[in-house]
Amino acid sequence: KSLVIAIDGPSGSGKSSVAREVARRLGLAYQDTGAMYRALTLVCLESQLDLQNQAAVEALAKRFFFEQWFDPGVGMVSAGIDVEHALDVTEEIRLPRVSEAVSAVATNLGARTELIRRQRAAIESVRGRMVVEGRDITTVVAPQAEVRLLLTASEEARLARRGAQLASSGETQSAADVARQVLARDAKDSTVVEFQRAADGVVTIDSSDLDFEQTVAAVIRLVKE
Ligand code: CDP
Repeated sequence: KSLVIAIDGPSGSGKSSVAREVARRLGLAYQDTGAMYRALTLVCLESQLDLQNQAAVEALAKRFFFEQWFDPGVGMVSAGIDVEHALDVTEEIRLPRVSEAVSAVATNLGARTELIRRQRAAIESVRGRMVVEGRDITTVVAPQAEVRLLLTASEEARLARRGAQLASSGETQSAADVARQVLARDAKDSTVVEFQRAADGVVTIDSSDLDFEQTVAAVIRLVKE
């Protein structure tokens, strides 16, 4: 039977790594919806599309190719302007130039509608056996999910995690640059999606003082309840 675990949270809350591990342990598929916003942003940048041109971004959202491996052990993403131009973009979508531009795509309501449609179709394609992670999953994409939770962490903890993540992927941004970028993105994102406060019926887990294993355990406990 259907078991959708919807996880929302801000950047650096640990939601991606936690969501993936929960999916692995429970034998569920895993969908990272941020990867879809990032991939569309990358395709826009590569096509030299003006991100402020709302209609053009929306049109591209409707026809770009996007595929994500739902096996939590794989985590590969492929995308392109169409299927013939699809490439493995798993690493590229994490580049700072994509992170800096992604809010312009995320605040495009026409593009959002299309991405949300694809995200819901992905949940259906695995008959609702999926951990889905993003900013608006508990409220918009899958408000009927069996488990809905908001993963938060203090600003200090989030910036530290984000910085460590970028450093381990070889990025050489200063801590101040990382902080500026993450906070600017949070501010822009929160103009269209509420991810700082839990909606009715959504459980909050604050991971500021929890390590990875403790956070995963807290989510799994919630599922078993
Ligand atoms: O890397 P980080 O965890 O900060 O973000 P992400 O989950 O990869 O998402 C990247 C961006 O996509 C966010 O900053 C939002 O602008 C957008 N996004 C969204 O609007 N709605 C979602 N459900 C997921 C991501």
